[in-house]
Amino acid sequence: MGKLDGKVAFITGAARGQGRSHAQRLASEGADIIAVDICEQIDSVPYPLGTPEDLAQTVKEVEATGRSIVAVKGDVRERSQLRAAVEQGLERFGRLDIVLANAGICPWEDFSLCSGFVDGTDVDLIGVLNTVAVSLPHLKAGASIVVTGSTAGMMKGTTEVLGNTGGVGYSWAKQTIARYTETLALQLAAHSVRLNAIHPTNVNTNLLHNENIYKVFRPDLENPTREDAEPALATLQAMPIPYIEPEDVSSLVLFLVSEDSKWITGQNFRIDAGGMLKAERAF
Ligand SMILES: NC(=O)c1ccc[n+]([C@@H]2O[C@H](COP(=O)([O-])OP(=O)(O)OC[C@H]3O[C@@H](n4cnc5c(N)ncnc54)[C@H](O)[C@@H]3O)[C@@H](O)[C@H]2O)c1
Repeated sequence: MGKLDGKVAFITGAARGQGRSHAQRLASEGADIIAVDICEQIDSVPYPLGTPEDLAQTVKEVEATGRSIVAVKGDVRERSQLRAAVEQGLERFGRLDIVLANAGICPWEDFSLCSGFVDGTDVDLIGVLNTVAVSLPHLKAGASIVVTGSTAGMMKGTTEVLGNTGGVGYSWAKQTIARYTETLALQLAAHSVRLNAIHPTNVNTNLLHNENIYKVFRPDLENPTREDAEPALATLQAMPIPYIEPEDVSSLVLFLVSEDSKWITGQNFRIDAGGMLKAERAF
């Protein structure tokens, strides 16, 4: 008996990282999966995004649990592509119970007139809104939506820095997700549909492990390596770790989409090893 037997979950950004981990964990608890990933590059993103091979690996891992998966190449910025993916999943599985708006990018310095800001907000905010929008018509009482923010949206000053338009777009999108969650959750509550947001600190994925992020943590070095950055990455958390694992986030997601949290909605959950408490209170 799994906690999600008979349920169907729609997950964006599912080719790798947290999305793949969520797909594998929810399937291992009995859910069938509708997985979407862009599987191509966005120019303002300074690290490689997921690939068709990555998405195929997610398919493999879900099928290894004994559950089924419909995997679709699609861009969360395009509502029609998401709608098509959900319809494909509904044709196969006949229902939708869980939605994880997880896809995200962290664009960076942008010298060509703000495409970083536009791409960041298009994917990290509009992409979330699109994912929820195409799902709502199919959700019934008992359904649960989880959207992925970031503690980057909660830190003071991250939307006010000048120059890093991609980083500002990322933080503003994540910040806005927190208010969106409270506002929409209240409307959904009367329908017994739940919506919560999760806000991770550093997570051990490609979004974190790239030179741009290493430079934020080691501005004193020209070409910082992972080894150079790791001690500095640890300064963000109160507990002594440089980052959490995708599987740690999946545990929170599983709780939020299962019956265990059936009266919890409209909440913004930090999963940050005490990082925000440290930022707000330790001086
Ligand atoms: N890694 C971190 O340190 C961290 C911290 C806080 C929040 N987050 C958030 O967690 C979520 C998952 O990121 P991750 O850490 O697994 O990173 P990741 O880069 O490993 O995975 C993100 C996935 O989303 C996909 N994607 C990107 N743009 C897309 C689009 N337009 N349409 C469809 N798919 C798209 C990518 O191809 C990739 O497979 C993101 O929303 C991210 O902002 C990450």
